Amino acid sequence: MCVTPQSLEGLCLRIRLVTSVCSLTHDGTGHAHSNLAYADNRREKDRLRIAVSSYTLTQQETDIMESNGEKHEQEYPVHYYEEIGALKNHKLTTFHIGAAGIPELQKAAEIMKIASQKRLTYESTSCANLMQYGFTMGDSDFLKSMAEFLTVEYGDDVDSDDLLVTAGASQGLSTIGSLLFHKGDFVFIESATFFSAINIFRDDLGMKLVNVPMDEDGMDMDALDELLTLYRPRSSHEISDKQPFWAAVYLVPCFQNPTGTVLGAERCKHLIRVARKHGVLIISDDVYGLLSYTVSKNDVNRSREFICPKRLFAYDDKSDPDYRGNVASVNSFSKIFAPGVRLGWYELPKRVHNIVRDSGLCQSSAGFNTFTSGIMATAINLGLVAENLRDLRRLYKKRMQSLIDTLQRELPPEVLFTRPKGGYHLWIVLPEKCSSMELLKICEEKFSLAFQLGSIFSPDEQCKNCLRLSISFVEEAEIVDGARRLSKAIKSFLDSPTEE
Ligand SMILES: Cc1ncc(COP(=O)(O)O)c(C=O)c1O
Repeated sequence: MCVTPQSLEGLCLRIRLVTSVCSLTHDGTGHAHSNLAYADNRREKDRLRIAVSSYTLTQQETDIMESNGEKHEQEYPVHYYEEIGALKNHKLTTFHIGAAGIPELQKAAEIMKIASQKRLTYESTSCANLMQYGFTMGDSDFLKSMAEFLTVEYGDDVDSDDLLVTAGASQGLSTIGSLLFHKGDFVFIESATFFSAINIFRDDLGMKLVNVPMDEDGMDMDALDELLTLYRPRSSHEISDKQPFWAAVYLVPCFQNPTGTVLGAERCKHLIRVARKHGVLIISDDVYGLLSYTVSKNDVNRSREFICPKRLFAYDDKSDPDYRGNVASVNSFSKIFAPGVRLGWYELPKRVHNIVRDSGLCQSSAGFNTFTSGIMATAINLGLVAENLRDLRRLYKKRMQSLIDTLQRELPPEVLFTRPKGGYHLWIVLPEKCSSMELLKICEEKFSLAFQLGSIFSPDEQCKNCLRLSISFVEEAEIVDGARRLSKAIKSFLDSPTEE
């Protein structure tokens, strides 16, 4: 691998170069495991450490390190794909990566090439609006294309006036959290939740997290109701037009990260009632909602080969007499296309839409991602995004089914797991006393595979006996064998005597 510090400056992930170590390293403990993306992320934002055996230091680099007292260790930023490439070289089955694989990204790149060529040919001979400051809520042509695309994909009306362009779901979460809430405000979360949401709400914004129990159908709404009653401020909270909610409920309603569960229709309706009753904002992180594997029985129209669960935003029905707008939906192209485009969208009720649109941040940047959204609009209008999405659903459905079938056959009955009908993730629950961290060591050292530790999805590191598998980066051919190896590892782990 040819890496120079200069050429890699500014890139966000880091590689730990160790001259003669070929295993993946842990975040400072010296123990080898690859759950690093998160472990390190928690400790040092935006860093990922990975040991690479093939790197040889130049004399100059060695001199610099030694003069800094660093001897043979140094960190350099590295691109995510170099990291992933290195993982591949180590023949690790990458159940831990929740991102699209290289072949899928190459298809996305091909689509963007076609769309860019067409769109930029137009831009270079017109007023080049795409290169200019845009509109605060996003380019109206993009919003229109997006609304049409989503209306078809969801099989339910999406109004372009509710949409607002973002630079991805993470930016969407951060912006809405910072604009609508104060430091110290509460955010109620699923007891296992997307780890970056923990970072954003708690670490970046200083909000207080409250765990709400969940089961295989998602968040427990009775428990949420009780907790909201308990935490609701007795004195008048500083509610204003600009900050109309005293708390947020953050959840991933469809094909949840990490468990793969879907919040059913009854719970969605219950959630809306609870949110209205308590005056809280539901932040619905719906990045997987379009990745449904359920095939439509009435496949008259090929563009709707798959049917998606009704989105949570639509349950907050505008025609209800007590409607006020309590659901903000945060969405992204990261999972349905490619994360590198850093493009997403909000679907927002009017009162929240106005706050975001009128914010200094939005006004100053005049739209969060004008250029990419323009190219994406062209790709959507050419039908390429819908076609690609259909292919992804077919691909992921096959992978997930192979994974489920193999685990079903191979895992001992005391090990429980979810059977997701969409998205990337499957959740395994080991018997209570088992440590998935211990299992991970065995998996990496003896079975050449990695998964995500359950504990990273909990602010107080619960779920220590759980693990998350993702199918997005593991090719179909590798899934069955990988799942067999995992099952074997789990069996030998459960059979091994526990230390007192
Ligand atoms: C639930 C959830 N939300 C948000 C994201 C990040 O989305 P984006 O890349 O659009 O910031 C992820 C990615 O793993 C996710 O799983």
